[in-house]
Amino acid sequence: MRNFRIYAYSDITLPPGINVIYGDNAQGKTTVIEAIALALTGESPRTSQEREILRIGEKFAVSRAFVKLENSEEHQLEVILTNGKKTWNIDGKTRKKGEEGWAPFHVVCFLPQEVQIVSGEPRNRRDLLDKVISHWSYSYHFNLLNYRRAVSQRNALLELINEQKLSEKDAKERISHWDAQILKYGVKVIEARLEFIMRWQTFVCDVFKEIGGEGEIKMRYVSSLGEDLENLYFSEREALPKRYSQLLAKSLPYDIENTATSVGPHRDDFQVLVNGIDIRDYGSYGQQKLAVLALKLSLGRMHQDERKMSSIVLLDDALSQLDIKRRHMLLEYVKKYEQCIITTTTIYDVPKSFWNSCSFFMARNGEVIKTNERQAIANQ
Ligand SMILES: Nc1ncnc2c1ncn2[C@@H]1O[C@H](COP(=O)(O)OP(=O)(O)OP(=O)(O)O)[C@@H](O)[C@H]1O
Ligand SMILES: [Mg+2]
Repeated sequence: MRNFRIYAYSDITLPPGINVIYGDNAQGKTTVIEAIALALTGESPRTSQEREILRIGEKFAVSRAFVKLENSEEHQLEVILTNGKKTWNIDGKTRKKGEEGWAPFHVVCFLPQEVQIVSGEPRNRRDLLDKVISHWSYSYHFNLLNYRRAVSQRNALLELINEQKLSEKDAKERISHWDAQILKYGVKVIEARLEFIMRWQTFVCDVFKEIGGEGEIKMRYVSSLGEDLENLYFSEREALPKRYSQLLAKSLPYDIENTATSVGPHRDDFQVLVNGIDIRDYGSYGQQKLAVLALKLSLGRMHQDERKMSSIVLLDDALSQLDIKRRHMLLEYVKKYEQCIITTTTIYDVPKSFWNSCSFFMARNGEVIKTNERQAIANQ
């Protein structure tokens, strides 16, 4: 890391296995996770305003990672940020915007604020879903962009129709081009989401149990095209475009009045249910945290099973507020990965039985220092 938030310069070598980065608040633990994720995925998991990362008063920031894979293959990944510009280089070659994902391995990254995925607004879940499926399939990314463009064009036209007070017949005529585009891409987006959730769900279910979640976890797609859309689609696939086009036509007067498109995947959501109960409203914090961890970790397993791709696991403050049994189960689960990096304010959150198999690093005021178990205890 160079000029990376609190770090003027820092160079860390993280061995395989579980790496524990401990330290007091505001010492730079999350920043290490962010820097690794940024170099490996090209995006900060923490902020969309990446210029925030530049150390105050500096003109550039760098996060550079040297990665050695199990098969001894080596890669160098780096992100260079200057004010307003980001360059992502992989093995010395700059990635172009919109280029398909680079992926000899998958990155699982959890930040504590991501509990909001389960507890927060539908947008959080939709964004995750779109990000995950786009990463999985480039055609989804393409369809989603076209869908979004069609919706914003339709909305602009709705505003015009509203202003000009056009008759319903004229309005229908004017809007039909964009309705056709919306249908074409929107159907593909919804179908891909339904199919992906169905596959993802089995992995989430297994991982949730393995990290100590109690009860049956289930994901349910909640669509603005009707409560029953999931069942409808899986029983009769052609029913989806039919339903969509009927609703789009039916909602036109309402949409003109509100100058916004009221139905479609941009208004959809998914529920996370445990034993049939929506944990957005009824789940405890620990339960919500385990659910989000299961959503994230299960993607690692999915990459392993379906693409034979291993994962590196980055967990920021994942252990706090979990009970000892679940902290144990979570670490037991991530131990199977080649490499895991976790942060904690206290090493006592790491169950003692793991201590001799972990590597310890202390973050203090913009420095990361390798320590051993004995020093880690003394530092607490
Ligand atoms: N652009 C920046 N320039 C300089 N310092 C920054 C910048 N951005 C953040 N910081 C500082 O970096 C410090 C470390 O932040 P970080 O979130 O990594 O801490 P942490 O160890 O994870 O803390 P916590 O235990 O509270 O989660 C904070 O004091 C923050 O104010
Ligand atoms: Mg932190």
